[in-house]
Amino acid sequence: MSRLNAHEKKTVTFKLNGLPVRADAESRMLLSDFIRHEIGLTGTHVGCEHGVCGACTIQVDGAPARACLMLAVQAEGADIRTVEALSPGEGRLSALQAAFKRHHGLQCGFCTPGILMSLDALISARPDAGRNEVRDHLSGHLCRCTGYVTIVEAALSALDEIRREVKSNV
Ligand code: FES
Ligand code: FES
Repeated sequence: MSRLNAHEKKTVTFKLNGLPVRADAESRMLLSDFIRHEIGLTGTHVGCEHGVCGACTIQVDGAPARACLMLAVQAEGADIRTVEALSPGEGRLSALQAAFKRHHGLQCGFCTPGILMSLDALISARPDAGRNEVRDHLSGHLCRCTGYVTIVEAALSALDEIRREVKSNV
């Protein structure tokens, strides 16, 4: 029987934050490691590396996903967004990022990128989400700082602001 070579590389092609990526990855390389070490985008953090803490959350085809539970080769053809995509421009913050700043939702910042990517997906899919939905959505994220209160308030504030903006544009 032929043996798999763990070091054999495969070419993987996908979209990352709106730009095409084509690079070689070992078959066993995690997507989180690929994004951080091969691409050099270190905004995606890595905590537990087995799908529990949520720190590595990115968006794959618009849905939140744990980058540590995907192999880089599984990203083939996908549309991937990381926390670096949230800013609308150099030195500017999205409504969600600004709300985190206003409400002191950042704390130590370790789990923040994953939480932002999860909440950003929630805001896009369910702009009318309320407190319970936000809390429910955050249940996949372990934060070991002072707690979740400021994070929930920041998310609700961003949702409010986005709804007001949509109304004023109608
Ligand atoms: S590092 Fe991926 S879930 Fe913890
Ligand atoms: S902000 Fe520090 S662990 Fe969540």
